[in-house]
Amino acid sequence: MGALRSARDLGLNPDYEGKVRDMFDLGDSFLIVTTDRISAFDVIMNNVVPGRGVVLNVMSLAWYEHFADLVGNHLITADAREFPAPFNEHADALGGRSMLVRKAERFPVECVVRGYIAGSGWKSYGKDGTICGHKLPDGLQLAQKLPQALFTPSTKEDEGHDENIPFSTVVDMIGQQQADALQKLSLDLYNTGSDYAEPFGVILADTKFEFGIIDGKITLIDEVLTPDSSRFWPASEHQAGQEPPSWDKQILRNYLETLDWNHEYPPPAIPEEVLAKTSRRYHEVLEILFPKEAEKWQAFL
Ligand SMILES: Nc1ncnc2c1ncn2[C@@H]1O[C@H](COP(=O)(O)OP(=O)(O)OP(=O)(O)O)[C@@H](O)[C@H]1O
Ligand SMILES: [Mg+2]
Repeated sequence: MGALRSARDLGLNPDYEGKVRDMFDLGDSFLIVTTDRISAFDVIMNNVVPGRGVVLNVMSLAWYEHFADLVGNHLITADAREFPAPFNEHADALGGRSMLVRKAERFPVECVVRGYIAGSGWKSYGKDGTICGHKLPDGLQLAQKLPQALFTPSTKEDEGHDENIPFSTVVDMIGQQQADALQKLSLDLYNTGSDYAEPFGVILADTKFEFGIIDGKITLIDEVLTPDSSRFWPASEHQAGQEPPSWDKQILRNYLETLDWNHEYPPPAIPEEVLAKTSRRYHEVLEILFPKEAEKWQAFL
């Protein structure tokens, strides 16, 4: 199926355009279209990665289902033929990459869970031996498995970078009961997801969940355990002391590092080959973890 850069290319006008998603506000619901846009260093490339949006969308759908016994989610339907007009008229272009979801009252917290130490967690540990107020053992190496998975929340910033916060700040923001519930749920989802991925040779190093309230209940929203919201590492390439290549934008980032580019707009043009390899990498992780879903949505991938 064809790549999609923007819903605008279909003559649709999104109410909100994120780096990756085009959102349509339909009153009680949102129609979320995951495009094939890709960003690096917070800059959206002009080129798209074909099928990337479908991979992200289908993976989230697969995890919603896998987690159905643990938590409800916002999904109404991912069958584009069932979308309200005029979206159903674009079922071929929107299928596989879109979902109609119930609007939630979002918690202003990114529910990050880390089972391994990398990224901003590694930086924070290097400074003072803690992450979000958790005191960690001395002598941990980069990419090492933590004694247990940790809830390391961050703020959800509309502009700029999210900031790690201690659990007590989450309590101040949303109250003890809700904070406890989000922490427990996030850890349960991480552990369940990581147990699922392990036999496939995939390490779920860390991830970020978002939750909201729908009908008074804590509900899973947004993307779930995708390569954009998580670090997936091939277990065969994991060794403490160095960060394995994750299933995401590594190929693109590596290419960009070879250029003399200041990480500001306008982005450089990305060669076909880099786009194709990146696309392959995204498809690969879906095929490894959810071969049946990959087959089911094959027409759109
Ligand atoms: N059911 C829902 N109810 C309310 N908000 C939702 C729901 N599902 C997802 N969202 C929000 O929609 C947005 C999805 O858009 P998108 O992922 O493109 O933007 P983003 O995460 O804010 O920024 P970025 O462009 O960095 O990804 C997120 O802000 C997410 O919190
Ligand atoms: Mg997002």
